[in-house]
Amino acid sequence: MGLPQPSDKATLSFDDGTPPLEIPIYRGTVGPDVLDIRALYSKTGKFTYDPGFLSTASCNSTITYIDGDKGELLYRGYPIEQLATRCDFLEVCHLLLFGELPDEKQKADFVKRVTNHTMVHEQMQFFLRGFRRDAHPMAVMTGLVGAMSAFYPDSMNLNDPWQREVSAIRLIAKLPTLTAMAYKYTVGQPLIYPRNDLSYTGNFMRMMFAVPAEEYKVNDVLVRALDRIFILHADHEQNASTSTVRLCASSGTNPFAAIAAGVACLWGPAHGGANEAALNMLYDIQKNGGVERIGEFIAKVKDKNSSVRLMGFGHRVYKNYDPRAKLMRETCHEVLGELGLQDDPLFKLAMALEKIALEDDYFVSRKLYPNVDFYSGIVQKAIGIPVPLFTAVFALARTVGWIAQLNEMIADPEYKIGRPRQLYVGSTQRDVKPIGQR
Ligand code: CMC
Repeated sequence: MGLPQPSDKATLSFDDGTPPLEIPIYRGTVGPDVLDIRALYSKTGKFTYDPGFLSTASCNSTITYIDGDKGELLYRGYPIEQLATRCDFLEVCHLLLFGELPDEKQKADFVKRVTNHTMVHEQMQFFLRGFRRDAHPMAVMTGLVGAMSAFYPDSMNLNDPWQREVSAIRLIAKLPTLTAMAYKYTVGQPLIYPRNDLSYTGNFMRMMFAVPAEEYKVNDVLVRALDRIFILHADHEQNASTSTVRLCASSGTNPFAAIAAGVACLWGPAHGGANEAALNMLYDIQKNGGVERIGEFIAKVKDKNSSVRLMGFGHRVYKNYDPRAKLMRETCHEVLGELGLQDDPLFKLAMALEKIALEDDYFVSRKLYPNVDFYSGIVQKAIGIPVPLFTAVFALARTVGWIAQLNEMIADPEYKIGRPRQLYVGSTQRDVKPIGQR
């Protein structure tokens, strides 16, 4: 779609004698207007300063829209609530990648294409065996996804739309296989090959939990829950990992390398690692006295001098209830009910924490609500996914969003290598003294 015509202009004036600058303003279809400051440096010799990108739109995009104050999330214009209840994950992948929900024929073709790519190169398992058995799954995933560039050299050219599409299908199809391989390797069980008669998510669950010694029966309630986790995590506009993928791919590197960079970024506890951190926090509270001691824990969270945060709460963009968290909360109760876990101490503790935080003025006044990762961690734990694998499951789901964003950037005629500037506050030029005089 590209940039619209400027809808207005602003004038920036300076006290230091620099002539005023007229700045075009663009209006998106919804959301805040943006000021086009691209000519600022060439016209005034000045940069803008915005660490953390609190007020910076790094691109124009047609993929995902978030209104953090309303608690609204749209993929290609469709509300997440409708997508999560009326579509499956592969339909959402089609939507994000190609811009529209598939009709029946398009869906059948897309499912067939993805399904044809679920196996990974047999040599991948020997690469996997190079890792320590106790390696963190995200370390393994970063390695495996990056290594795809060594296995699929025929779909590496970022400037060729067909190769980009093939690598997109490969990544979507193979991420479940790689994630399950990373898990099976750490528990020392044989790798389970994909079965293409199962759904995308059913197949993932089988690769995770089946063993060759017995039949594995897929539980539909759990498959639906996991499929919903995938849909809710599929894209989230210009977050840290997506911006990482865009920046990485802006150098012209191959799609597998760019997605591996996204996986690495997602690992951090302030981003995708929050679901793992939330569960570890619950274990810690349980170890130190459980529900009875929640008050003490909350006091530490509120103490300005402690660095303890309530993991799974708060969001940079949502200053209202995260709409994904609402849907995940529903799924959470469905899964706990299906598995008879409502009275499990860990889950009771999670529900008690949620209640306190929703009522406590510290959280209410700062608009800190539970985010999607609080509930998705609980659901994944209940399903039997080990805590260190949570972020890998998030990466699996987010892969389609990363690719859609990367494709959008490359196809944009205004695309340039990303190259932020800085405010330098270090020493001015000085001379190197001989080592004996330093
Ligand atoms: N627990 C306690 N206090 C918090 C929390 C929290 N989880 N989050 C924010 N605050 C407080 C913070 O101390 C500050 O208080 P004050 O104004 O008194 O100094 C105020 O709320 C604003 O916080 P901030 O750090 O300026 O907010 P931010 O927008 O920079 O941070 C965040 C967003 C997600 C990094 C943060 O809320 C956080 O660390 N949450 C816990 C980690 C987490 O769950 N991350 C997952 C995010 S959702 C998944 C995703 O989209 O990747």
